[in-house]
Amino acid sequence: MSEVISAAPAPPAVRLPAAVRGPKLFQGLAFAMARRWLMRRLVRKYGTTFTVNMPMYGRVVVVGEQQLAKQVFTTSPDELGNIQPNLSRMFGSGSVFGLDGEDHRRRRRLLAPPFHGKSMKNYETIIEEETLRETANWPEGRPFATLPSMMHITLNAILRAVFGADGAELDELRRILPPWVTLGSRLAAIPKPKWNYGRYSPWGRLAEWRRQYDLVVDKLIDAERADPDFADRTDVLALMLRSTYDDGSVMSRKDIGDELLTLLAAGHETTASTLGWAFERLSRHSEVMADLVEEVDSGGDELRQAAILEVQRVRTVIDFAARRVYPPVYQLGEWAIPQGDSIIVNIAHIHSDPDVFPDPDRFDPQRFIGGKPSAFAWIPFGGGTRRCVGAAFANMEMDVVLRTVLRQFTIETTTAPDEAWHGRGVAYTPKDGGRIVVHRRR
Ligand code: HEM
Repeated sequence: MSEVISAAPAPPAVRLPAAVRGPKLFQGLAFAMARRWLMRRLVRKYGTTFTVNMPMYGRVVVVGEQQLAKQVFTTSPDELGNIQPNLSRMFGSGSVFGLDGEDHRRRRRLLAPPFHGKSMKNYETIIEEETLRETANWPEGRPFATLPSMMHITLNAILRAVFGADGAELDELRRILPPWVTLGSRLAAIPKPKWNYGRYSPWGRLAEWRRQYDLVVDKLIDAERADPDFADRTDVLALMLRSTYDDGSVMSRKDIGDELLTLLAAGHETTASTLGWAFERLSRHSEVMADLVEEVDSGGDELRQAAILEVQRVRTVIDFAARRVYPPVYQLGEWAIPQGDSIIVNIAHIHSDPDVFPDPDRFDPQRFIGGKPSAFAWIPFGGGTRRCVGAAFANMEMDVVLRTVLRQFTIETTTAPDEAWHGRGVAYTPKDGGRIVVHRRR
């Protein structure tokens, strides 16, 4: 008897969008050093979708259309997985940034409760306190950059959310983390040398800070476990220490260290940069500013929320989200992308699509009044199963910081030219740090 074997349908033939011309090394360098500039130039030359080729990532299809972004974000993570390399190079293999498939799903379930919208009320008081403390010494009547203050507030806020209480150990982390994040962001975009690097090389310095960080975290873990109220604590560290996976296993000490570092680093620079841009934008839009002050005095928040959405659209601090193709060929719209290639969603470009956001360069919070933005056109937090864990936290934090500042200060509006973009490696900030002039409200 002959056996009938039904052959699996052959995967579609590879079909990639236009390949960017020029040496691989140059494309990689430009991506590492001037990503925003490169992407804008390439969109002008090749259209919204094209293929780049870079030393660290290999071949990458860049997509700048809402429909394709939607498909990327709604595809199963079994088909579109984690980009390689990713930020776990900086945070360690136990970071959620490095996990894929079932490991990623399990970790996300564990991280969800403390960062879920419902938990946000608990953090509001912390953020308000931190904002009042930081702004107490703001100078009156002369320009200063808001970004350093925003970095302090967001670092303190995430430290307190993660560790529950304040204390001497947190001072140690306040000392170690800012230079670590600044250097780490720069190094994230370039290959790590394979040879042994010296103690004073940039990689050596990161390793030394990591050693110091681990010592502090060990102490914090011991103190937390020794707390008689440990079982009732709701901070992120307590949740991690108490959590068990479905098979009864617990998070290892190393994974806890990697993940806490991830939250502290990913959670503070991005939010601070967006707030810096918020001051830059608002101080250049006197009508919006006046309406915001009126609203804060009457206890409302609709316009403030819309302004936050609009700042994130028009001054997108993280300009791309990336995935990697797992099946032999992945069909994306009209393109067929082979296994091992990567896909980058060009968030910044999608945010400037005039069909979705008319007159896209204009700062106009009114576009978000009375309606939520489309989930695949407004994507500062990425999308799908890897969408930013801290999105609700960041939104609440930006709202409370702006509310508190507007209640305390009058911010002068200005006709000065817009601040330029400054790439810090991962996030983009206003080049002069979101400079404003304030007067205390009496
Ligand atoms: C305005 C502030 C923020 C922006 C613009 C931002 C943006 C992003 C983006 C674009 C991604 C990648 C999403 C994707 O690949 O689809 C991401 C991932 C992530 N963010 Fe944020 N983020 C912000 C604040 C935060 C905060 C406050 C935290 C922590 C509390 C945080 C923690 C993370 C983590 C852990 C991931 C990795 C998620 C995963 O791979 O599953 N972020 N964020």
